Amino acid sequence: MEITRVGIIGSGIMGSGIAEVAAASGYEVTLRSRAQESADAMKTGVEKSLNRQVEKEKRTAGEAEEILARISTTTKLGDLADCDLIIESIVEDLDTKLALLAELNGIVSASTIVASNTSTLPVAKLAAAMSHPENVCGIHFFNPAPAMPLVEVIRPLTVSDETFNAAMAFATSCGKDAVEVQDHAGFIVNALLFPYLNNAIRMMENGTATKEGIDTAMKGGCGFPMGPFALLDLVGLDTSLAILDTLFASFGDANYEAMPLLRQMVAEGKLGRKTKIGFYDYAK
Ligand code: 3HC
Repeated sequence: MEITRVGIIGSGIMGSGIAEVAAASGYEVTLRSRAQESADAMKTGVEKSLNRQVEKEKRTAGEAEEILARISTTTKLGDLADCDLIIESIVEDLDTKLALLAELNGIVSASTIVASNTSTLPVAKLAAAMSHPENVCGIHFFNPAPAMPLVEVIRPLTVSDETFNAAMAFATSCGKDAVEVQDHAGFIVNALLFPYLNNAIRMMENGTATKEGIDTAMKGGCGFPMGPFALLDLVGLDTSLAILDTLFASFGDANYEAMPLLRQMVAEGKLGRKTKIGFYDYAK
């Protein structure tokens, strides 16, 4: 299974990060978003990220230009028909993903690999929406995708060895550490990370320390690059809530039961960096 063309669906921070990673690794990338403005905004996001790397002398301006030229944008799902691998990175909602995959099913060939960047949803359920579930697996990047070395490659029971191995090889070719994971909710990282993030909110609410104090403590005490509140804001509070809800529904463990404050902030539209306000204020 040779992969040369990669389609990416979804206009969020993950979609543009994955597009950058794939294009920088030599793949031809087609980015699909429902609205042309968001597809263009994603490409502008990649351009900014590449320009930062040029300023930091990590890449030449010529390399950045070549990478950007490998990315095209579209609003039409049909434009992904000639992709060898399609990665969906849309909102973390099972019904929305199933509807997209049902639509995609009418477009892809019998050999197209379809991967989900889902954080927690069962990949086998997503595979069931396709006529060729053996071509479906999870390829889970971390935020920010260009900077984080890990990719979890999820192996649902339905996937063929050929597809799974091609997905592992793709992640490795992107310069990432590819780790095989079974199709269990939250895979490795989110299943371990989210009880910690949720309990940080509980600790602040209990009055043990302020959010700034907790963030400083976890950076200085554990060597983490960011504290839990800064990380919640980076991941997005809506995504974090969706992840916790799926984990709680799967495991029924109280550590996964989203703190009411998180739910309230999401209802108020305080989603973290992307809305310029979350636990911290990014508007200034
Ligand atoms: N896009 C591209 N590259 C970026 C970037 C971005 N948005 N942000 C940072 N980088 C790169 C920088 O270019 C730099 O690369 P270099 O060392 O080659 O120059 C490197 O990352 C370090 O960046 P900075 O020096 O500017 O900043 P920091 O040292 O503060 O690092 C960070 C920023 C990489 C975000 C770091 O704070 C970090 O690792 N934080 C933890 C992030 C994390 O845990 N992510 C996982 C979240 S969970 C998840 O994604 C799962 C999902 O399912 C929810």
